[in-house]
Amino acid sequence: MVIFKKLVLFYFTGTGNALAAANWIKNYTLSINIESQIINIADNPNLNEISIDENTLIGFCHPTHGFNAPPIVIKFLRKFPATNKKVKFFTLNTRAGMKASKLFTPGISGLAFILPLIILLTKGYKAVGYRPLDLPSNWISIHPGLRQKVVDSIFERCERITNKFAAKILEGKKSFNRLYELPIDIAVIPISIGYYFYGRFMLSKTFVATNACNLCGLCERECPVNAIKMKDGIPYWTYQCESCMHCMNSCPERAIETPHGFTAISWWLAFWLIPPLFYVFIPEQVNHKELIFDLITYTIGWIVIFAAYKLLHKLLRFKLVNRIVKYTSLTKYKFWRRYRGQKIKTT
Ligand SMILES: Cc1cc2nc3c(=O)[nH]c(=O)nc-3n(C[C@H](O)[C@H](O)[C@H](O)COP(=O)(O)O)c2cc1C
Ligand code: SF4
Ligand code: SF4
Repeated sequence: MVIFKKLVLFYFTGTGNALAAANWIKNYTLSINIESQIINIADNPNLNEISIDENTLIGFCHPTHGFNAPPIVIKFLRKFPATNKKVKFFTLNTRAGMKASKLFTPGISGLAFILPLIILLTKGYKAVGYRPLDLPSNWISIHPGLRQKVVDSIFERCERITNKFAAKILEGKKSFNRLYELPIDIAVIPISIGYYFYGRFMLSKTFVATNACNLCGLCERECPVNAIKMKDGIPYWTYQCESCMHCMNSCPERAIETPHGFTAISWWLAFWLIPPLFYVFIPEQVNHKELIFDLITYTIGWIVIFAAYKLLHKLLRFKLVNRIVKYTSLTKYKFWRRYRGQKIKTT
């Protein structure tokens, strides 16, 4: 027996996986005649206009970024209003699923489950479900997009899993999946923290638009966090970029690359070559020398990466630099597929 009168589903997506999951749940909910609404977190919805009471089930669907929920989702959850009405919620994080031969391999959630759970529990909501969903990995800066046949088979499997999950929680039963992964999730927390406070800013500087760009402005318009600005006439990635991969996968000209050659050199300079030049200024007798080395490395590294990216952006206007950057980017080559998920129709 269904115990909810309404479902309100908040989602954030880069390349459509979390949206697909949200739509599967929405379609299932509508098929059993329950009112259902899905809301894009990137649209900055006015929460005062959304009515939520004890008969409403709320859900959150989002990808996993750096073993955590994406920063935009964390910010949204932090400002989500508290309740005293015992409103029930579930969370679903999509992860980097792959397929090796016939075996579907899972991603890792890290804090992507734990953090939203803690935030919502402290605001008075009651947890009724958790489901990590291993949809295709979209991180094409580090690997080519999966082949469409593999993508389709992962989607088929995930649709079945999601419908089963939706049926269970809408009947008022609890459904917490993959809790046996918690030890791994806890073990990777230091990486989640490093990614949230440092790594993601470095990754925001690993995108360029080459001279294949026709300045259509699509990437700037569609970035969910407004991280792309037109600077000196070409797209420039600001540190607000959350590496959701939307721009790179949807550029109609395939003009956006991860400049692997440039990134390798700038990271080598930033974290290996330049910081030791500053170690000589540390007095011999000082305590916690290792910690000071690390602080210097990460601070200098940060400055070098940001400065190198600015310089590269200026130099990209020169044909020769543009060519060198392009041909030293693995993403430029045909075998490095972009990620195309599946668009899920809503009823
Ligand atoms: C920058 C970045 C970091 C990621 N980190 C993780 C991760 O820590 N664990 C994981 O399982 N998947 C990770 N992924 C994969 C995505 O979470 C996964 O492909 C997700 O289904 C994408 O959903 P979306 O299409 O809704 O954006 C990462 C992807 C990107 C681009
Ligand atoms: S979407 Fe592609 S072609 Fe259009 S402005 Fe962005 S990089 Fe250039
Ligand atoms: S700049 Fe591209 S990768 Fe970064 S958040 Fe915007 S759309 Fe996503």
